[in-house]
Amino acid sequence: MTNRTLYLIACAAPPSRRLTVPIRAAQQAGWDVCTILTPSAYRWASEDAEGEIEALQQLTGHPVRHEYKLPSQEDVLPAPDALLVAPLTSNTVNKWAAGISDTLALGLITEGIGLQLPIVALPHWNNAQDAHPAITRSVQTLRDAGVTVLLGEDAFVPHPPRHGNLDAYPWQAAIKALPASS
Ligand SMILES: Cc1cc2nc3c(=O)[nH]c(=O)nc-3n(C[C@H](O)[C@H](O)[C@H](O)COP(=O)(O)O)c2cc1C
Repeated sequence: MTNRTLYLIACAAPPSRRLTVPIRAAQQAGWDVCTILTPSAYRWASEDAEGEIEALQQLTGHPVRHEYKLPSQEDVLPAPDALLVAPLTSNTVNKWAAGISDTLALGLITEGIGLQLPIVALPHWNNAQDAHPAITRSVQTLRDAGVTVLLGEDAFVPHPPRHGNLDAYPWQAAIKALPASS
């Protein structure tokens, strides 16, 4: 069976330090996983002396990308069949809904809507960030555009500032929301 390709696109929120969890779960569900980090998430992962980036590359068999290639460079990843944006930050949700594409991660997820790719987004932000009116508007804009945003009951529920629980982050809900294999 040829695996379908999933792009796991991670922003700079604490769950981005545990990407082996969703990668392994998606692989078990039959996905060939490629990892894309926002520039901030890449900076976080890069400071890990234990080689977090190398470990992700080894686990997926693909380079970890975080910036646009040059026009002269070849694509190094297979084309995606679906996108999983997790963790999704408040910064990226608002830029995404506004159609901004100044990073590779945003370029993929803004274009992904127009390409009608299945897109699942699992937020991670606190309830103070969640109270900003832009967040409600952005989540609604993305849902109207067909993105599955896993915010609310049975998905991600924003926590009080500095009270996040990484162990409770619902990775499994995101994997379950991906399209089933044909
Ligand atoms: C320790 C730390 C934890 C953070 N946690 C979150 C978070 O859970 N959710 C969030 O939306 N932003 C969080 N931020 C802020 C983002 O990292 C920041 O807005 C960044 O610009 C996001 O960039 P990106 O969306 O391109 O990844 C955190 C920042 C720091 C330093």
